[in-house]
Amino acid sequence: MVFLFYSLSLQHIRIRNFRCLGDVSLDLDPNVNLFFGDNGSGKTSFLESIYFLGRGRSFRTRQARKLIKYGEKGFSIFSSIYKSRSDSSLGASFSEEGIRRQIDGNVKIKPLEMALFLPVYVLDPNSQFLIEGGPTTRRQFLDLGVFHVEPDYLVYWKEYRRVLSQRNAAIKRKENFKIWNEAYIAAGEKVNQSRKKYIKGIINQIDKIDEGLIKKKIGISYHQGWDDNISFEEAVDLSEKKDVMMGVSSLGPHRADLMIQLDSRNTKEVISRGQQKLITIGLVLAQVMSLPKEKQKYSLLLIDDLAAELDIGTLERIFLLLETITSQIFITGLSKHFLPIKNQKYPMFHMEQGII
Ligand SMILES: Nc1ncnc2c1ncn2[C@@H]1O[C@H](COP(=O)(O)OP(=O)(O)OP(=O)(O)O)[C@@H](O)[C@H]1O
Ligand SMILES: [Mg+2]
Repeated sequence: MVFLFYSLSLQHIRIRNFRCLGDVSLDLDPNVNLFFGDNGSGKTSFLESIYFLGRGRSFRTRQARKLIKYGEKGFSIFSSIYKSRSDSSLGASFSEEGIRRQIDGNVKIKPLEMALFLPVYVLDPNSQFLIEGGPTTRRQFLDLGVFHVEPDYLVYWKEYRRVLSQRNAAIKRKENFKIWNEAYIAAGEKVNQSRKKYIKGIINQIDKIDEGLIKKKIGISYHQGWDDNISFEEAVDLSEKKDVMMGVSSLGPHRADLMIQLDSRNTKEVISRGQQKLITIGLVLAQVMSLPKEKQKYSLLLIDDLAAELDIGTLERIFLLLETITSQIFITGLSKHFLPIKNQKYPMFHMEQGII
């Protein structure tokens, strides 16, 4: 992997009182960082702290106070950052006063600004909900992906959610809900078009990596939330009676889903745990790879317990793929030899009881 001048990477990170991490201070590699340690040593907590820095929340809990080290009053994460040849810094903390974020010392930072500044992608055991979970998980995957490629998407998405809830309220109150149709159709079309465009990019990437990853064909198709052969306007028109009967807007982008197949078989049918994990890895890697080249260099990829459930050959192939990605990557595993890498190119950090 080559060092890229026009890129973003965390150079140094300082974590205070985040879960079991009392005081961690680390210099990081701009490309790949490997962490190993026994169960409960703090590997996931470390990734979680980086995720918190970018997203302002955890991927394990919605309650930030649960992230505070037992017996302490707050936590903080601070990172000096190398960004396009210049130095920058990013911080997030949580205490009784709530969450505070800062970029380059500026403390009036909104969560969205943070998310755009530091796009973080994560692969952990929960990511398998993408396959075995309900449509909401897949819509979130889709929406987050579109947002990072097309930041304005959030405006359409919020508008759609707003109009949808007004329209639903009107249906419930048995009022004239049709007055909302024009705005509902316009916002719904925008959300749908952006998602469709995005999913095309994901399919392109999946087509390039599925053979190498799983030696089978991963198929993805997008179901827009109504009959794929008609426009949203027609669908809204046709579903009026059903909407009244059900007391809710029964069709639309809020009902969209992704169908994921392996060699033309639905992945909800029998596939092995390892295959499930590989498809999930494929989806998240495709998401990172489909970012415009510039943005890929500005994102982080966190992979928790990569080696679990995967054979050596598969791990080797995944690692080759990872080396083509320009994001800064953090990978955890149980033992020093969790990855089949011959020459130790990348730093390997040992974790023990919250100490690195
Ligand atoms: N708020 C907290 N304060 C202090 N310790 C905590 C807090 N929340 C969790 N822990 C502890 O932190 C330890 C590390 O957990 P973590 O999930 O990071 O370990 P891990 O290295 O990922 O383990 P595994 O290999 O089993 O996945 C656990 O013993 C957990 O009980
Ligand atoms: Mg863990």
